[in-house]
Amino acid sequence: MIGPNSRIVSGIQPTGNLHLGNYLGAIRRWVKMQDEAQCLIFLADLHAVTVYNEPSELRRNINGMAAALIACGIDPDKAVLFNHARVPAHPELAWLLSCTARVGWLNRMTQFKEKSGKNREGASVGLYAYPVLQAADVLLYQATHVPVGEDQKQHVELMRDIALKFNTDYDVDLFTIPEPHIAESAARIMSLRDGRAKMSKSDTSDMSRINLSDEDDAIVQKIRKAKTDPEPLPESALALAGRPEALNLVAIYAALTDRTPNSVTQEYAGKGFGAFKPALAELLVQTLGPIRERLKQFEADPAALEAILAKGADQAAEMAAPTLEGAYRALGLPRGR
Ligand code: TYM
Repeated sequence: MIGPNSRIVSGIQPTGNLHLGNYLGAIRRWVKMQDEAQCLIFLADLHAVTVYNEPSELRRNINGMAAALIACGIDPDKAVLFNHARVPAHPELAWLLSCTARVGWLNRMTQFKEKSGKNREGASVGLYAYPVLQAADVLLYQATHVPVGEDQKQHVELMRDIALKFNTDYDVDLFTIPEPHIAESAARIMSLRDGRAKMSKSDTSDMSRINLSDEDDAIVQKIRKAKTDPEPLPESALALAGRPEALNLVAIYAALTDRTPNSVTQEYAGKGFGAFKPALAELLVQTLGPIRERLKQFEADPAALEAILAKGADQAAEMAAPTLEGAYRALGLPRGR
């Protein structure tokens, strides 16, 4: 259970546009949690460079993502918001932890397999090792919970294994073992074109995802064209098994309204997508319209964003220092001059 003594840590890569999957699977939940517990939210810019990014574009994306998180409701006075390239404790601890993580563990990471594809030999060492940096991101702050979408669950399990092994090998009680926190209804928001592929910023078809920057008419059109089937909606969401596109639209509706998929199917039982899609599109426009307008305001003020990220990095560095010190000490490594 998340409460005042919980510490929440989570991150997002600042690569291009935010989409509805990121929003429902992660950000919207961070916004709620910042009122319930101590939250650290960061832009994982050191993860973004595991593949080539045009530097000026990455710079723009970092500001754009910070603006988007604030537009979604992350309040820098409640949550610590920063980009982790500004906090050297992250790569420092990542090196120490990479000496605890086993090659066999990393070999099992499905995201590396997906992202490197057939060109595994040509992938960067950083892309392979990045789950260890992700472990450092979380373990540095003694996080109790890591709110993520389903696709990150394996990485959270890896950080638990690394923390346990380090604590055991060096006979210390240094790292808190974090729990993954996955929202059932929005764990995996799927592509609008293929209910078996997750909604992703790397999908070549823009029609597959709703971007947080999409204008109202683009949202309406994407939902109108979303792949579905000719059957009406059933009484129970369980009956949507085998209808992945229909299930996805119901899941999106449920997540947006904080309801269960079952209560949504009950309301629309017997109705087809001719009735359901306009209602869903309307809901999306109502939710995302105000976010898009706030985003435009914040993007126009890069100096304010810079100040927020710099302050967040100072806070994060201070919070990270004792754990990093503890890791050096546990390993028997002298520090300082
Ligand atoms: P990233 O940037 O790919 O995604 C950010 C968050 O959005 C969630 N997400 C989704 N949730 C539901 N449905 C989808 N279609 C969908 N697509 C993305 C992701 O699960 C994630 O929670 N490695 C991480 C960033 C990271 C991190 C961390 C996360 C770096 N360090 C430490 C947690 C803790 C990543 O690339 O997420």
